[in-house]
Amino acid sequence: MRDLITMDDLSNDEIIEILDSAERLLPVAMGEIYAPLLQGKVLGNLFFENSTRTRMSFESAMKRLGGEVVNLSSVGSSVAKGETLYDTMQMVDGYSDIAVIRHPRQGAAQYSADAVEIPILNAGDGAGNHPTQTMLDLFTIRQAHGTLEDLNIVLVGDLRFGRTTHSLSHALVRFGTKLTLVSPETLRMPNEIVRDLQSHGVDVTETEDLASTITEADVIYMTRIQKERFPDEDEYAKVAGVYKMTAEDLSGAKSNMIVMHPLPRVNEIHPSVDETAHACYFKQAFNGVPTRMALLCRSLGVDVPKEVGE
Ligand code: NCD
Repeated sequence: MRDLITMDDLSNDEIIEILDSAERLLPVAMGEIYAPLLQGKVLGNLFFENSTRTRMSFESAMKRLGGEVVNLSSVGSSVAKGETLYDTMQMVDGYSDIAVIRHPRQGAAQYSADAVEIPILNAGDGAGNHPTQTMLDLFTIRQAHGTLEDLNIVLVGDLRFGRTTHSLSHALVRFGTKLTLVSPETLRMPNEIVRDLQSHGVDVTETEDLASTITEADVIYMTRIQKERFPDEDEYAKVAGVYKMTAEDLSGAKSNMIVMHPLPRVNEIHPSVDETAHACYFKQAFNGVPTRMALLCRSLGVDVPKEVGE
């Protein structure tokens, strides 16, 4: 079964293989070559939470590979009438060959995978995991630095509720990356995740001070404070806007340091950063297309040829 629920579903070798396939698929993602590797296949895109990039890049990936997409959102479907996730998944099982699911509940992707025959890709389950985002993040890091090993990576912002950082940190330590976790005290990475990271034998440092991490960093990965996950509006108000990066803040950074962000940004990266050579977040978002192409092919058992388009 070729589900992708957490990064534990992929070995390091499989990760590298998928990144290599994604690299070969770049010209297809850019629309330069048409390679209908997934012709006749149907993807079910199931979004029970808001999405721009994940949803659109999966759809673009499927269509550029000659496949079709059927969509479900919680608005305009029978979910609004009280249909259970289990029943909804039985329909999706019949209507598509593979499904991508995003849901506000942690564990919903695994629950869905257990309920159906088709492969399920987790596109974000509450404050849990977001492994397909991690794959495009790894693709972007490798594209910029030529390796995933021995880098100095700084994760910044809402490490408590931010599912992108949960999946990414776990994958990075498996490649020997040194991690610095920057967050306000109340939004620290959950203890059990920090313990898991440390068990891989790499250096994990926690701090509240972003400025002190900039000169040594190879990657600074900014994140949005996850407003929708706060039990209490007042608690959100206390930490909203704690980190605001400007171009000036980056004057002491290494020349090849990249600033990443899964997006959407709220106010944590000032538009002045967009003009610097460090800004990598729009390219990162585009990288969702080739990476998700490679993931779709893998889960559907379709080999990506050594020479795509020939
Ligand atoms: C992220 C998410 O949904 O977890 N977005 C994304 O998929 N690019 C990050 C966020 O919403 O802050």
